[in-house]
Amino acid sequence: MKPESAVFLFLTCFTAIIGAYGERGFDPLDKFIWAKRANPRLSDAPIGGNLELAKNGVYSPVYVSPQDGLMEADKIDKLPGQPEGVTFNQYAGYVTVDPKNGRALFYYFAESPSNSSTKPLVLWLNGGPGCSSLGAGAMMELGPFRVNSDGKTLYQNPYAWNIEANVIFLESPAGVGFSYSNTTSDYNLSGDKRTAEDSYTFLINWLERFPQYKTRDFFIAGESYAGHYVPQLAQTIVLNNKITSQTVINLRGIAIGNALIDDSTSMKGMYDYFWTHALISDEINDGIRLNCNFSAESMSHVCFQYLEQADAAMGNVFSYDIYAPLCGSSSFSTLSAGFDPCSSNYIQTYLNIPEVQTALHANVTALPYPWERCRHYDHFPYSHFSQRQYYQSFKS
Ligand SMILES: *[C@@H]1O[C@H](CO)[C@@H](O)[C@H](O)[C@H]1NC(C)=O
Ligand SMILES: *[C@@H]1O[C@H](CO)[C@@H](O)[C@H](O)[C@H]1NC(C)=O
Ligand SMILES: *[C@@H]1O[C@H](CO)[C@@H](O)[C@H](O)[C@H]1NC(C)=O
Ligand SMILES: *[C@@H]1O[C@H](CO)[C@@H](O)[C@H](O)[C@H]1NC(C)=O
Ligand SMILES: *[C@@H]1O[C@H](CO)[C@@H](O)[C@H](O)[C@H]1NC(C)=O
Repeated sequence: MKPESAVFLFLTCFTAIIGAYGERGFDPLDKFIWAKRANPRLSDAPIGGNLELAKNGVYSPVYVSPQDGLMEADKIDKLPGQPEGVTFNQYAGYVTVDPKNGRALFYYFAESPSNSSTKPLVLWLNGGPGCSSLGAGAMMELGPFRVNSDGKTLYQNPYAWNIEANVIFLESPAGVGFSYSNTTSDYNLSGDKRTAEDSYTFLINWLERFPQYKTRDFFIAGESYAGHYVPQLAQTIVLNNKITSQTVINLRGIAIGNALIDDSTSMKGMYDYFWTHALISDEINDGIRLNCNFSAESMSHVCFQYLEQADAAMGNVFSYDIYAPLCGSSSFSTLSAGFDPCSSNYIQTYLNIPEVQTALHANVTALPYPWERCRHYDHFPYSHFSQRQYYQSFKS
């Protein structure tokens, strides 16, 4: 088997169940293996501008445009198919982050149903790179609604974070979900640095649009490849506050889950997990342990052979929840509680309904492709740079 097909097999393993079940992983992190072989230089990709900023001590002013009236314009009347008795405000729309290239980020904002004016503001980010915080974070994980199996109606999520906070779900970088650029070559530049800068510009403008949130306690949370986005955005905020001697954004904390911080430990941990859960044999595990250097620029052929064996041994399991049934499998009927493995299909259907897009103030420029939970991620540069230094920098 050619190395490329081994890589493909490996990818399907971690992104889980592409093809046969039409299901995909949440935030496919594994792409870096592919990227490593396709472009080893990506390992040296420039990292967040925030460190450069720290070095130079210079504040690069961000683009700010007048936001008057836009909060009211972004208010969602009612989402199609939403349940009765919704008592919180919802907003959605675009924030332009680069008027020259025509780059705009899409957000969905769920206020808290009670005492929202005394509750903190949280920004939620999914990873990928290339996965949507609306499709994954809001509609599958921590948002107020989930989509029923009809793909048309919604039900309330009893564990929604907006019960305790006012939560912004940002589709980033441009090219993800409804976020776009009129200059499509921008998508190829949407690395960590661009993502942090655009997210910062988004926040500054968003706070102009929602001025009542300007001094609010602010938190950034995210998962997966947002293990890069969260600390880099946090550091951008901290440094800009420092350089301008103002609390431009009142950042109080960050939270990350299942985060990618360091390629080598993540990969090692993943295979340890597969091995300790009897998904791969001792022999395969030893082979990986002895032959795979996940810190290396490119991995050896023999390593790929072991990864391929691991993939074959695991078969079709949903690697984000190995005990969960697969979408389309006979063991799956109705789940009274917990995760429905087909939910991403319902979300894909729902968010592509024209009335839903209209209600969300989304896709106002008639983007020439459908909404997808994870898209274009081949073109979103994946940085292999360990994020440890960012996390460590918060200690001071
Ligand atoms: C992108 O182009 C469309 C069509 O010209 C325009 O309506 C839209 O405002 C542009 N987007 C941005 C962010 O400038
Ligand atoms: C809202 O805030 C008031 C005053 O702090 C408090 O008494 C009340 O319990 C809060 N309501 C909810 C639902 O948290
Ligand atoms: C982005 O990069 C990919 C891969 O190099 C290339 O095929 C594509 O044409 C580029 N897209 C744009 C819009 O520049
Ligand atoms: C793994 O690769 C890294 C980066 O090239 C290198 O520094 C390290 O020595 C390698 N480790 C082993 C055990 O070969
Ligand atoms: C945007 O709307 C057009 C129809 O105007 C539709 O064909 C396209 O799939 C939509 N794109 C997204 C990203 O929703």
